[in-house]
Amino acid sequence: MKTLAHISDLHFGRIDHAVVEGLVGDLMTQKPDLIVISGDLVQRARRRHFEEARAFLERLPFPYLVVPGNHDIPVYDLLRRFIDPFHHYKHYISGDLSPFHVDDEIAVLGLNTARSVILDFSHGRINRGQIDRIRDVFGELPPHVFKVLFTHHPFLPPPDAPRTRLVGRHGPALSVLEDCGVDLLLAGHLHRAYSGDIMSFHTQVARSILVAQASTATSTRLRNEANAYNLITIARPHITFEVRAWEGAAFTPGLVSRYRRRDHLWELEAQDTGFRPATAP
Ligand SMILES: [Fe+2]
Ligand SMILES: [Fe+2]
Repeated sequence: MKTLAHISDLHFGRIDHAVVEGLVGDLMTQKPDLIVISGDLVQRARRRHFEEARAFLERLPFPYLVVPGNHDIPVYDLLRRFIDPFHHYKHYISGDLSPFHVDDEIAVLGLNTARSVILDFSHGRINRGQIDRIRDVFGELPPHVFKVLFTHHPFLPPPDAPRTRLVGRHGPALSVLEDCGVDLLLAGHLHRAYSGDIMSFHTQVARSILVAQASTATSTRLRNEANAYNLITIARPHITFEVRAWEGAAFTPGLVSRYRRRDHLWELEAQDTGFRPATAP
């Protein structure tokens, strides 16, 4: 069994300090095997914001993997934005823009989908070299290893917003992810928490690939949702997604979704909203 904490969109420079403290405390309690951070570590790609993000990473008591998001690229420093967009990110966060972890049970690959040379650089894209990397990394692994890809930009829209822009070149990437038997895609960017199966939207895919999107863990840029992160328990043939949401004083369990693998499909076995009606005194 493995437990992943999937946190995203921290946005240091525009964070709620109480929530940051609550997040560190909750991670200490949950003791994940690995923390996966899917981009937007800072609000503006300034040194001061990156220094705060670095200080946060230093406090994490467990191993972590991280990729950048669009906010980790400078907006106003045009020279740096076009010539060396990940300069601060590489200095303060990580020099590795495609981190990878593998052990006997899980393989986790991160890809950088943030781009500085497209018209609206909040959008993300996967390039052909990254599609090759997916094939090279996952294609060699035995079937029993649970395979996870994480990016900043999403592959699956929220259930109530099907026209949401997805990561560019998701079509060819999904075809390789399907061929390689990748089980789970993690992303952020939208500041909304939801999970589902890629097959529910991308009808050309004939094999289940689960998706978990994380809300913003610590930012005050909320989109009608609380700060939250995903606690993911992988215990074949089951996987459980628990949205741990900030309730004003602590992170507490929200929606819990449990899936079971049957052949090439992940079936939703149980779901618990976390809502408990008040009982009479
Ligand atoms: Fe974000
Ligand atoms: Fe973003």
